[in-house]
This record gives sequence, C-alpha cells and structure tokens, in this order.
Amino acid sequence: MDFDLSAYLLARKQWVDEALAAFFTPPSPPEKLFEAMIYSLTAGGKRIRPILMMAAYEIFGKNGRDILPFACAMEMVHTYSLIHDDLPAMDDDDLRRGKPTCHKVFGDAMAILAGDGLLTEAFALLTRDGTTPEWPAETRLRVVRELAQAAGAGGMVGGQAMDILSEHQPVDLETVRFIHTHKTGAMIRAAVRIGAILGNADTDSLDALTRYGEKIGMAFQIVDDILDVEGDTAVLGKAAGADDKLEKATYPHVAGMEAAKKEARQLIAAAHQSLEGFGEKAAPLNAIADLILERNA
Ligand code: IPE
Ligand code: IPE
Ligand code: MG
Ligand code: MG
Ligand code: MG
Repeated sequence: MDFDLSAYLLARKQWVDEALAAFFTPPSPPEKLFEAMIYSLTAGGKRIRPILMMAAYEIFGKNGRDILPFACAMEMVHTYSLIHDDLPAMDDDDLRRGKPTCHKVFGDAMAILAGDGLLTEAFALLTRDGTTPEWPAETRLRVVRELAQAAGAGGMVGGQAMDILSEHQPVDLETVRFIHTHKTGAMIRAAVRIGAILGNADTDSLDALTRYGEKIGMAFQIVDDILDVEGDTAVLGKAAGADDKLEKATYPHVAGMEAAKKEARQLIAAAHQSLEGFGEKAAPLNAIADLILERNA
C-alpha cells in the first residue's frame, strides 16, 4: 500500500489551521480574551481529532473540507481542555505546544475565560448558518449531542475529575482505564463518530468506526503516558516527567512500562481489525492508528 500519510496529514492540518485562525481574527473586545483564545488555538498542535473526523467522513466518498466547521469546533473544545488542564489548580504546566501555557502569558483568570469562550463558541459554530440540505437540523442535533456528551461530565470532564482525584493515590488498572477512556478516549471516539454521522454512515459502519475510535482513543492516552516518561520535552512541546511529579494514575505507573506498550500495540491491532470491512478506503484511518502507536510527539 503506498498511501502517503505525511502529505495527507499536512494538507488537512493546513485546512484546519487556516480555518481556526480565521474564526476570531481580528479579535473583538475584550481583546485580551480573544488574544488568549487565538494564542492557544494557533499555537500548533497535531490537529489529530479534526483529521480523524475528516478521515472518517471521507470513508463515505466525501471531501473532508466540507466538514471543516465541525472539525474546528472539535479542536476548539480540545484546546479549551488543554488550557484548563495546564492551570495551576490542575496539572500546573508551563509549556504547551512548544510555547508558554495560556495562563503563563495571560494569567489564570484570562486562561479560564479563554477556555470557557472556546468551549461555548464551539457549540455556536456547530449550530451556525442554520439548516442546510447537507446538514439538516436533526444531523446537527446529533452532532451537538455527540460532542456535548464526549466533552461533558460523562466524558472528558469526568475523566479529568477522576484524574485529579487519583493524584497521589493508590489506584488500580480499572481506575486508570476509566480515566483514559473518559479524559481522552471520549473526544477521539466522538471525532470519528461525528465524521461518520456527517457521512450518513449506516449502523454497521458507525459501529465499526466507533470500535476503531475507542481502541485508538485508549491507545492515544497510553502512548501519551509512555511519552511522558520516555519522550523529549523539546519534541513533545510540553514538559516530560510531569506525571511522576504529581504521581498521576498513568498506565505505565500502574501496570508497568512493558505492559503499557503491549496494551497499546494490542489496541492498535484491534483498531485495524475493526476497519477490515472498509478495505482500501480505510487506508488513512489505518495509517493514523499506526502513527498513534509510533509517534514521538
Ligand atoms: C494532548 O492531546 C492531551 C491528551 C489528550 C493526551 P494531543 O496530543 O492531541 O495534543 P495537541 O493537540 O497535538 O497539542
Ligand atoms: C489530559 O491528559 C487530557 C485532557 C483532557 C486535556 P494529560 O494531562 O496527560 O495531557 P497532557 O500530557 O498535559 O497533554
Ligand atoms: Mg491532565
Ligand atoms: Mg496535563
Ligand atoms: Mg500526559
């Protein structure tokens, strides 16, 4: 298979970067707030969730660019989660996406509000421009529900709460799995599902893609934990070794490094399996699954 993943990712990252940069530029008053939102949104980032959304959508013979507003909304919610994750009251990190964290530059209050702004504006974007033939109201409603459930207390926020509550505590693997499926898995699963929903996936395809999203979502956070131990701050764009300081409930900490690596490999193998029915059309999603395992950032 000679699928060029680098070119595929680069093109889509550029689409997303351009679209995101356009949303809040020029900043409106209060300018400090908009500057903080734009700072974090345009600080870089792999854009893996929007790319996954587009790749799932493209399985159904569509053009990923068509769903850029939905993909950008997803990235806005993700960026908000990073701004809040880095706050002194949470992980207290100074470096994100290779730059000083939002609160380091704009202060805690503006960083909290920038996160609030990004979260809320994402939902404004999802419902903007009303109903169109491509995106009737019921499709938009399904997408809003997917993103709200993934981001909320039953998803990412719940996982973040469990992550914080588990610091410096003896935790079992079941708790780590809860944290990972919620704080990270839910948003990645939703990215893939939203792409499929917008592509008018039938039930079987949506189920297969959901399984794929769940497997890579869990693997993504296990690899993030591994990189926190073995990765390089300059390459990661965020401080390595941060989890140990806070005695975070990470997969390698609880199960051991070898078990963490094995689990990540098995999850990626299972992700490939769930795509078998799509044949060659799934080349991008298969390649992204491998990248999640092999990445160094
Ligand atoms: C970081 O996500 C937070 C986690 C869920 C592990 P990413 O690794 O996707 O970060 P960016 O968006 O590329 O900066
Ligand atoms: C955070 O997990 C996941 C989010 C919901 C933001 P981490 O705390 O491990 O993410 P990093 O390592 O700071 O990116
Ligand atoms: Mg965290
Ligand atoms: Mg963190
Ligand atoms: Mg981490």
